[in-house]
Amino acid sequence: MTTITIITGTTRGLGASMAEQLAATGQHLVTLSRKTSDALATIAAKHSTTLTQLNVDLGDSSALAKAALSLKALIARHDRVRFIHNAGIVTPIDQAENLNDLAVINNAFQVNITSAIYLTAQVLTASHTAKDRRILLISSGAGRNASSGWAVYCATKAAMDRYAEAVKLDLGDRARITSMAPGVIDTDMQVTIRSTPKEALPSLDRFVGFHQNKQLGAPDVVARRILTALESEGYGSTTIDDIRQYPA
Ligand SMILES: NC(=O)c1ccc[n+]([C@@H]2O[C@H](COP(=O)([O-])OP(=O)(O)OC[C@H]3O[C@@H](n4cnc5c(N)ncnc54)[C@H](OP(=O)(O)O)[C@@H]3O)[C@@H](O)[C@H]2O)c1
Repeated sequence: MTTITIITGTTRGLGASMAEQLAATGQHLVTLSRKTSDALATIAAKHSTTLTQLNVDLGDSSALAKAALSLKALIARHDRVRFIHNAGIVTPIDQAENLNDLAVINNAFQVNITSAIYLTAQVLTASHTAKDRRILLISSGAGRNASSGWAVYCATKAAMDRYAEAVKLDLGDRARITSMAPGVIDTDMQVTIRSTPKEALPSLDRFVGFHQNKQLGAPDVVARRILTALESEGYGSTTIDDIRQYPA
């Protein structure tokens, strides 16, 4: 049995940690990111992992379609197929009256959920003969509980959760899908959140507190837990999931 794992958004943060761990498995790893990584190539070479780094801005529809063509050609010969949609952006963070830049709003939806819907379709089509197919969407508590200032981010992640539930109905036992909240993690996304003016994000102090009180998860640790969950026997039985529900 051969395994291919496709993951988006691997330049930084949680995605970089997951990609580094996957690059050490000796399987086939495909990254879809805006930049390629020499460090990842070094890890892959050391562990005889086949690494394909596809350069793509997920917010660019024609670049995305081009990357999907390359991706489909790689998937066909594998029996185990994993797709992880990790790429995400938390901006725009602002009050409702100020959410008036269509390009920015559309980009948030395209990166956070539209590209996931599109890539899932490509992966499912290209892998129809595979024996074990698993889709993992990195969601957020923001999709489950609303926060002032986060209307767009909350909407994209809530869309991700509903999408996963609908796809589960489509697929039955033909593939597994989970929309997983990763908890708060010490990444650039949290830096962006902490740099937002309080007028835009009234709950700013809560995020400053997570950082000051060292309550943010380490990306490597969270990545390890998520990848373990992905390979667990019961994966996919809980569609709307949270990694904090799993043993540390
Ligand atoms: N950090 C948290 O506390 C937290 C909490 C809940 C959920 N999450 C979710 O966890 C996931 C990872 O977040 P993170 O904290 O690791 O964020 P991060 O450090 O900001 O990294 C985001 C990743 O997404 C990529 N990305 C953004 N826009 C892209 C685009 N247009 N095309 C391709 N890649 C793009 C970034 O690549 P570039 O370097 O090219 O920008 C980067 O690799 C996200 O889905 C986020 O919503 C995070």
